[in-house]
Amino acid sequence: MVKESFGTDGRDNPVELFTLSNGNGTKVKISTLGATVVSFLFLDKTGTLRDVVLGYDSAEDYLKNNGLYFGASVGRCANRISNAKVTIDGVEYALEANSGSNNLHSGSNGISYKIWEVEHIDEEANCLALKIVSADLEQGFPGNMTIRAIFTLTEEDALHIEYQAVSDKTTIANFTNHSYFNLAGHDSGNISGQKLKLYAKAFTPLAPKDSIPTGEICSVEGTPFDFTDFKEIGRDIEATDKQITYARGYDHNFVLENQGELKLMAEAECEETGIHLYAYTDRPGVQLYTGNFIHGHMGKQGAFYGERHGFCLESQYYPDAFRHPDFQKPLILAGEAYKAHTVFRLKLKED
Ligand code: BGC
Repeated sequence: MVKESFGTDGRDNPVELFTLSNGNGTKVKISTLGATVVSFLFLDKTGTLRDVVLGYDSAEDYLKNNGLYFGASVGRCANRISNAKVTIDGVEYALEANSGSNNLHSGSNGISYKIWEVEHIDEEANCLALKIVSADLEQGFPGNMTIRAIFTLTEEDALHIEYQAVSDKTTIANFTNHSYFNLAGHDSGNISGQKLKLYAKAFTPLAPKDSIPTGEICSVEGTPFDFTDFKEIGRDIEATDKQITYARGYDHNFVLENQGELKLMAEAECEETGIHLYAYTDRPGVQLYTGNFIHGHMGKQGAFYGERHGFCLESQYYPDAFRHPDFQKPLILAGEAYKAHTVFRLKLKED
């Protein structure tokens, strides 16, 4: 595993970048800042190495653009918590209101932009395990929590991402990886022409303001949210459907039917490069986010990134679950082990 310097966290603490590579020439780069997937390089159908995730060239650039969460590990609670408050065991905890009056991705100063420690490297298994300790009431959440992010690249070009956490108090655990995929290459612009299939027959609609779910679970049938068969991501993205206009595109949680087992959540493909993505998770939901709020700016190797230049498949518990009786709660008891497993596998499409 190659290790390079990736800059600092702005306080002179060094950040490292690890490269996992397999025998097919596939490479995954992981930064210790935020346990972040910086690059996912794969040979396309013409033999060109394509980097299919958005990112930056240094830790400093990640810190500068910290509202976007490019490739980051997000937690302790991914997605939104309304009114930035949560009650656990009868005690109300105040969180940072960093998205209107709500909490988004646990606040602006969380694990996504902190340095993780290298706990273990297994060269043979092509595996990197990172660890971070989040103190009691850090970001407002109860319990001292030890969090692990374990990245493995297989010879089948699958990137396994496993999150593990344990706390000394009952608390929230809901971690996700926030990679923005562009299967034409990170520097190739709008993803609207790429095709997507989701293994979800229902989604959780949003209230008109602030991207908070209403609590309903609605069928995707006959709506722009129907990705049960491959469809161009952009086909219905300009629809006048209110749900689409609330989020300026897709930024919604889809209901998966995996019953807690690792199963396909999504597939995506790009005709020009022939790159096909298979995404698996054991989580109950996935947030499809089509990069609706990426402001025009510079990314890796001088690439221009703008609106809809990447799509995210954020495996998760449903957003704002504490407010909705029908949503499974992302809670763990003191000492209980949290585990979440998500896989992103790349493959060339067979013609
Ligand atoms: C959220 C978006 C947000 C983006 C970047 C996504 O997970 O659903 O609303 O803009 O993350 O923070």
